Amino acid sequence: MEVIIQPCAAAAADLVARLLAARLRRTPALVLGLATGRTMEAVYARLIALHRDEQLDFSHCTTFNLDEYAGLAGDQPGSYRRYMQEHLFDHININTRRTHLPDGTAPDLAAECAAYEQRIEQSGGIDLQLLGIGASGHIGFNEPLSALMSRTREKALTPLTRAQNAFAFGGDPARTPARALTMGVGTILAAREIILLATGRAKAAIIAKAVEGPITAMISATALQLHPCCKVLVDADAATLLTETDYYRWIFDHEPEWAPFR
Ligand code: F6R
Repeated sequence: MEVIIQPCAAAAADLVARLLAARLRRTPALVLGLATGRTMEAVYARLIALHRDEQLDFSHCTTFNLDEYAGLAGDQPGSYRRYMQEHLFDHININTRRTHLPDGTAPDLAAECAAYEQRIEQSGGIDLQLLGIGASGHIGFNEPLSALMSRTREKALTPLTRAQNAFAFGGDPARTPARALTMGVGTILAAREIILLATGRAKAAIIAKAVEGPITAMISATALQLHPCCKVLVDADAATLLTETDYYRWIFDHEPEWAPFR
């Protein structure tokens, strides 16, 4: 794992977008794992700008989102399909047929989850997975005690997560869906490269636990410590409670891999 600290949220989102763009330019048929949420909005805005200003080409890539609410159709407000269309897909040259999210309205949700895993496998696996982190420590919707080897399945959402996401449902946690389909922790760990982005003071405590704490199913993000190619990008606010920041900064300043991004 590497931790990269940027001065502000905009700089951290910009670096994520530039990393992703570099991967996409190298491998036009990239298989991308995508996340939703407020943190990602700045990344998607940067990607749209790179598409517009520098002709970043998405026409050959395939995407798989982490999760979708159970019971919400893709055109309903609050659904993650709608989020992706509005924040990214409608503004770039991606082939919508190659953009995948679990179908929260499928008649058999278990079968839908198994089929989602199959689709990822048939696409050759995920090259680069983007992640945010929830206040509960979740990645995707892998709430506390999610098995660290879990695959895509239906999960109940914690009251904390429903409160965190209520902004998309009129601010009312009771109107926020109680269940979701999500890639498992094992599905996420199978990606060849992972980039987690966390910004803001509210994420500082969970980032410190995820990066420097012991691996535990109570905080699914701690499983990322097992991944051979995982980058955690944070702004100074989200880095506040990390103890080894001098070391992380030294690595960023000296590793040749980071030279084009410094
Ligand atoms: C969203 C997802 C979640 C979010 C996390 C952070 O697809 O899988 O894990 O990344 O809840 O959300 P924000 O960015 O809104 O704080």
